[in-house]
Amino acid sequence: MSNYKKALKLAKEKMKKSVNESHGEKHAKLVEKHAIAIWKSLKKDKKWNPNPNKQMISLVAWWHDAYKSDHKKLGFWDSLAEDVSTAELMEKALSDTLSKKDLEALIIAVKYHKLPFLRLLEPKKYNTLAQILFEADGLEDLNWERRSKQLKSEQSIFTKMLFSFESATIIILGWMVIESEYSKKVYRERVNEFFEKLLDRTDNFFKNGA
Ligand SMILES: [Fe+2]
Repeated sequence: MSNYKKALKLAKEKMKKSVNESHGEKHAKLVEKHAIAIWKSLKKDKKWNPNPNKQMISLVAWWHDAYKSDHKKLGFWDSLAEDVSTAELMEKALSDTLSKKDLEALIIAVKYHKLPFLRLLEPKKYNTLAQILFEADGLEDLNWERRSKQLKSEQSIFTKMLFSFESATIIILGWMVIESEYSKKVYRERVNEFFEKLLDRTDNFFKNGA
């Protein structure tokens, strides 16, 4: 078995056992599906000269929520630092399996994928893998069904606010930093759906209230 396969097997076993409802096997599979399509789309349009191989795309999709998968819910501060905690978990689990270069690329992608503007300020700290993960994970943050479930299950008002802020940021600023044609297409569909559902909800609220 290749080292990539070993590393992927570890992540799949971990995500299968996830105790976090919205960050388990299903989410990792969807992020992987988007990430591969984004990788192909960037490659087709010769944007960003994507250098990561397909195995690295699968690895980043399956590992990126490793820390969350161990926790049913995260507190506010934990939510802010969870990418760094995932990077630490990956370092422990994969340092004997992957090459130093591959592990570093994965860690950079996980740590910085929520900061796409970093590529303008510090391009060396940002890599193509981070951009692919940002777009793939962001598309799932705009998945209405998943987002609604997440908001309903959250008890803490701070985490609810953080989730809402995250979705709003992706809707408002996401368009400016999305690179792939694939993400642009899915983004348009999801934002339309988001607003349609919001309008339905507002409509129902007034009808029921009347
Ligand atoms: Fe995720």
